[in-house]
Amino acid sequence: MKRVLSGIQPTSDSFHLGNYLGAVKQWVELQDGHDAFYCIVDLHALTVETDPALLRKRTLASAAQLLALGISPDKSTLFVQSQVPQHNQLGWIMECLTGFGEASRMTQFKDKSSKSGADSSRVALFTYPMLQAADILLYQAHYVPVGEDQRQHIELTRDLAGRFNSRYGQTFQLPEAYILKTAAKINDIQEPTAKMSKSSGAVAGVIEIMDSPDANLKKIKSAVTDAGREVTFDAVEKPGISNLLTIHCALSGRTIAELENEFAGKGYGDFKAAVAEVVVEYLRPIRTRALELLEDEKHLLDILHQGSAKARTVAEATLADTYKNLGVVL
Ligand code: TRP
Repeated sequence: MKRVLSGIQPTSDSFHLGNYLGAVKQWVELQDGHDAFYCIVDLHALTVETDPALLRKRTLASAAQLLALGISPDKSTLFVQSQVPQHNQLGWIMECLTGFGEASRMTQFKDKSSKSGADSSRVALFTYPMLQAADILLYQAHYVPVGEDQRQHIELTRDLAGRFNSRYGQTFQLPEAYILKTAAKINDIQEPTAKMSKSSGAVAGVIEIMDSPDANLKKIKSAVTDAGREVTFDAVEKPGISNLLTIHCALSGRTIAELENEFAGKGYGDFKAAVAEVVVEYLRPIRTRALELLEDEKHLLDILHQGSAKARTVAEATLADTYKNLGVVL
């Protein structure tokens, strides 16, 4: 079985619908037929100022949501990055292989550091991709399911793996980016020409998995619509309605054509009520399950500790090989 590995940062109290449809749903599908490793990358979340209570809360909330959304500890290895110290250890080796210029070309670093000003950015923001390379290479992953924005980091990881292998002997599997399908690209429901995102959008435009059914119902009923009154898909003329159609289809499994027929002659109000119903009923059991998991913290920690123990076994073996090939005295 091919191995997949991916990571998600515990940077918010709730995932949103875009995170689910764009990434986690596909992680769930990949569990079948692959040996999947999914990592909550808490160390990566430390590259910006964090509050200790929030980091803890969000790490547990991320785990509970991943489980509630269908990541199964029987099928995959779900673990917390900081519980596997080999990530830091191999991260250092990756930093020793990376050129300064090479790291300076990472577009995510350039974007993020230009926002806060390069001088006040943390050094760890610069070395972030080398820790990510370690995340991937420790598990000898074949595929890394990520969004298009991560392609450059996976390319760097491949380069570093190849460089190490040719200098020190075959040690790492060269991973491939498995770019997630964006067929169901979900946009902000208040600003439907922009991607649904908590960092750029207002709360009113983002549908959060952990929000109460009532709150989500209200949000969707006040989603922005377009001029005209026909419910038809037209991403340019009707970005608001088109986005709501996409959301409905992604969760209900219906087609755009079916929905256009069903709502022919009815107004936007009826349509929004239907979308709200679909979203709220889809998310209701997921939120309930996540809250149950968070209620019993000991059980949740048990699941994570078991995942981390499994991950450590694989990570230890790779690190031992790496050190041996480097000439480190063991
Ligand atoms: N950098 C990734 C992101 O921002 C998160 C991440 C960290 C990751 N380590 C990883 C993704 C390893 C895939 C594999 O989305």
